[in-house]
Amino acid sequence: MKTAFDGKKVVLGVTGSIACYKAVDLCSKLVQAGAQVDVILTDAATKFITPLTFRSITHRPVVTDIFDAESELSVEHVALAERADVVVVAPATAHTIAKLALGLADDAITTTILATAAPVVVAPAMDAHMYDNPATLENIETLKRRGITVAGPAKGRLASGLWGWGRMVEPSDLLGHIAAALGRRGDLADKIIVISAGGTQEAIDPVRVITNRSSGKMGYAIAEAARDRGAHAVLVTAPTSLPDPPLVEVHHVESALEMRDAVAACCENADALIMAAAVADYRSANPAGQKMKKGKGDTLTISLIKNPDILAETQGTKVKVGFAAETEDLLANARQKLINKNVHLFVANDVTAPGAGFGVDTNKVTIIDRDGGVEDLPIMTKYEVAHRILDRVAKLLKS
Ligand code: CTP
Repeated sequence: MKTAFDGKKVVLGVTGSIACYKAVDLCSKLVQAGAQVDVILTDAATKFITPLTFRSITHRPVVTDIFDAESELSVEHVALAERADVVVVAPATAHTIAKLALGLADDAITTTILATAAPVVVAPAMDAHMYDNPATLENIETLKRRGITVAGPAKGRLASGLWGWGRMVEPSDLLGHIAAALGRRGDLADKIIVISAGGTQEAIDPVRVITNRSSGKMGYAIAEAARDRGAHAVLVTAPTSLPDPPLVEVHHVESALEMRDAVAACCENADALIMAAAVADYRSANPAGQKMKKGKGDTLTISLIKNPDILAETQGTKVKVGFAAETEDLLANARQKLINKNVHLFVANDVTAPGAGFGVDTNKVTIIDRDGGVEDLPIMTKYEVAHRILDRVAKLLKS
């Protein structure tokens, strides 16, 4: 699976809101990620944006009228509903949300949603007062109760000039909600997977830390991939520049000691632990309470003490996976760690290889297991690597 959307059939309903411009971006991102997107516009949406905009992106007909003789919906009014893998309404106005709550079917979007067995994702967009209205809030609760994913709205400046709840969530976030909806009956449904990510920061004084080059990308990709297979993904992350992935439970920590406590607490009821974090092996023995001043001499010695080995000491999950980022003797080192830390799988990567390691979006890894099995994977995106690791985790959890 290259992306969560590869080969998926997405029906994108767009209703009449100024946030229509975000639907164009969303549509483009879905197409780029490999989805086939069928767009339906309400009458009101066509006042904000033209069908041509979406047709140019999807290279497919855009439905604006259920009775349009050119549209396949005029022959088979539930055609899109039946072939959709997911139906998305973005932006969804208060009016369309109210129609969905009532089960009305007076246009192509509401008809499609009433007739589909596919998961439905709705991204509300409206003025703050319309959102705050008890009628709208109750309608949204009704949709949630029926299993519809309601993504947002976000808080911020609205087209009216008001500040408040009512902004459509950003397309990049919405992709996470759609991916999760697509995978909600996946092979990790009902499983709790804890993933650690990023490089821990060990303070030497209030302004300075010892850290490493980990970007966190591999751990975040695993959390997203686990979510996209139906798992409850729990991400324990050291500081990174990455945004929190939507629909993932995120715990932010800094040091190895904080990560140990968070991982232990999160693993109490978890099925698997995947330690993708680059945990500092040592921390300062005596972090200074105030900013350290330059001394007279040319050198500075900081005394370090060993951090706990989180992977080795965490008990209770059925499956444990470790990562070995090495610069030499890759497999021999990884094998030794597999035994020492008593884990089921080790994902080994040579961080000096092109396209692998820190900061990049791709990785080239070898997965080794307790039975001596060695799975050498070609270079692929970190999201694809994540799925290959989770294939193995899913198998171990079944066994
Ligand atoms: N790890 C951990 N706690 C530590 C150090 C490492 O949980 N204090 C985990 C990492 O998250 C990773 C695996 O152990 O999944 C291997 O990490 P690595 O740094 O390669 O192993 P070390 O045991 O620290 O060995 P090295 O001497 O090569 O640093």
